[in-house]
Amino acid sequence: MTREKLVVIGQGYVGLPLAVSAVEAGLDVVGLDVDTGRIRQLGSGHSFVEDITDSRLAAALATGRYLPTVNYADAKDFDVCVISVPTPLRDGVPDLSYVEQAGTALGPYVRPGCTVILESTTYPGTTEELLRPLLEQGSGLRSPGDFHLGYSPERIDPGNQTWRLENTPKVVSGLDAAALARVDTFYRRIVDRTVPVDSPRVAELTKLIENTFRQVNIALVNELAVFSHELGIDVWQAIGAAATKPFGFMSFTPGPGTGGHCLPIDPCYLSWQVKRRLGRQFRFIELAGDINHSMPEYVTQRVMAGLNARGRALRGASLLVIGLAYKRNTGDLRDSPAVDVTNRLRALGARIRAVEPYADPRHVPAGVTVVELTEEEVRAADAVVVVTDHDGLDYDMVGRTARYVFDSRDRCAGPDVERL
Ligand SMILES: NC(=O)c1ccc[n+]([C@@H]2O[C@H](COP(=O)([O-])OP(=O)(O)OC[C@H]3O[C@@H](n4cnc5c(N)ncnc54)[C@H](O)[C@@H]3O)[C@@H](O)[C@H]2O)c1
Repeated sequence: MTREKLVVIGQGYVGLPLAVSAVEAGLDVVGLDVDTGRIRQLGSGHSFVEDITDSRLAAALATGRYLPTVNYADAKDFDVCVISVPTPLRDGVPDLSYVEQAGTALGPYVRPGCTVILESTTYPGTTEELLRPLLEQGSGLRSPGDFHLGYSPERIDPGNQTWRLENTPKVVSGLDAAALARVDTFYRRIVDRTVPVDSPRVAELTKLIENTFRQVNIALVNELAVFSHELGIDVWQAIGAAATKPFGFMSFTPGPGTGGHCLPIDPCYLSWQVKRRLGRQFRFIELAGDINHSMPEYVTQRVMAGLNARGRALRGASLLVIGLAYKRNTGDLRDSPAVDVTNRLRALGARIRAVEPYADPRHVPAGVTVVELTEEEVRAADAVVVVTDHDGLDYDMVGRTARYVFDSRDRCAGPDVERL
C-alpha cells in the first residue's frame, strides 16, 4: 500500500509544525514555500520556529519522508494538500494574494479524489468563493464531485508548552459530507480530537470569533486600566478578585497593546466582510482596535510622567526595556507593541538598552542595544520599563534594585514600581 502524500504550502509558524507532526504520524510530506532562503535553512536542519526544535526537524528530515522545496512540481500526485500562507491586511483591507497565488499554482496538480484544505485565517466565504474557482480552473475538475475541499482553522499558540498542535481540538469542515469525512480522517491522524462543523463558512467564522473575543476583552481591561489609574484604584487586584468567581467570568489582563500577525488583524477580516456584505460597521471590533492601538502611546506617556515625578526628563534618560517580542516567551517582533513603545521612547530622546533573550538581534530596532538582565544594568537605568514579561527573568531583583520601574505586566513589586 502506498503511503499518503501530504503537501503543506507555506512552511511558516503554522505550516512547519503541521508538516513535522505529519511526518511523525507516518505521512510522506512535501513542505512547499516560495522563500528559497527558508527552504534552504529547513533542508539543512535549522528551524526558525521556537516550537520545532532543530533536533525534531533533523529527525523529520532523517526519515526521508520530509521534503522542503520551492518547486510546485513536487506536489504532483498528492493525496492531501494544506494551504497555510499569510493573510495580512494591506491598508486595512484583507490581502488574499498569497492564497490566490497558492491556489493558482496548485490547480494543475489537483486530481480526482484528492483533498485540499485551507488553514490560513480569512473571512467567511473564502474557501468557496475564492479558492474553489481557482482550483477548478487549474484542474478542469469540480468540487464537490471530483475533488474534496475544506477549511480547518489553525489554533497554534507559539510558545505554549501545554496546548500544542496535537492536543488542541481541531475544527474541521468540508464543502459536502464526503469532503468533511476526508478532512476529518486526515486530521485525526495528527490531532487527538476534531470538531466537525457544517460548512467552511462556519469554520472560517469560528477562528475569527476566537480572536475577536480576545481582542475585545483585552481592550476592555486596557480601558479599565486607564480609568482605574485616574480613579486611584488597583485594577490588577480587582481583576484578580473578579477571577475568583467560578462561573461567568474569564480573566484578561491589561498590557501595552496587542501585536503579532493574528490578534490585531484577524478581527478586521470580519469587520471588512460585514462592511462589504451588509454595509454595516462592526463597532465592537473597531472600538477594540482603537483602544488596543492607543496603548503604546499611553505607556510612553506614563513612563514620561513617572520620570517627571522623579525630577527626570525622558530626553537623555537611560531606559532598560524588558521584552521586545509581541508575546511572552517568543522572539517574534512582528507588529510588536513593545517595539512601538521602544521607538516612541527613543523618538522622545531616551537612550534604550533592552533585555530580549528570544529575538534574533538582527531584527531588534536600530539604536537599541540588547543586554543581559543584571543588577548593574538595572542600577544604571533611570527607569526600567517592563513591556513583554518573558519567563525566567528575575523580576524580584528588578523591583528591589531599580530606581523606578514602569511595569505594564504586573510582574514587579516594590516602592518604586508603578504598574499600568
Ligand atoms: N502564527 C500563528 O500563530 C497563527 C495562528 C493561527 C493562524 N495563523 C494563520 O495561518 C496563516 C499562516 O501564518 P504563519 O504565521 O504560518 O505565516 P508565516 O509568514 O510564518 O509563513 C507563511 C509562509 O508562506 C510562504 N508563502 C507565501 N506565499 C506562498 C506561496 N504562494 N506558495 C508557497 N509558500 C508561500 C511564505 O514564504 C512563508 O514562509 C495566516 O493566515 C495566519 O493568519 C497563524
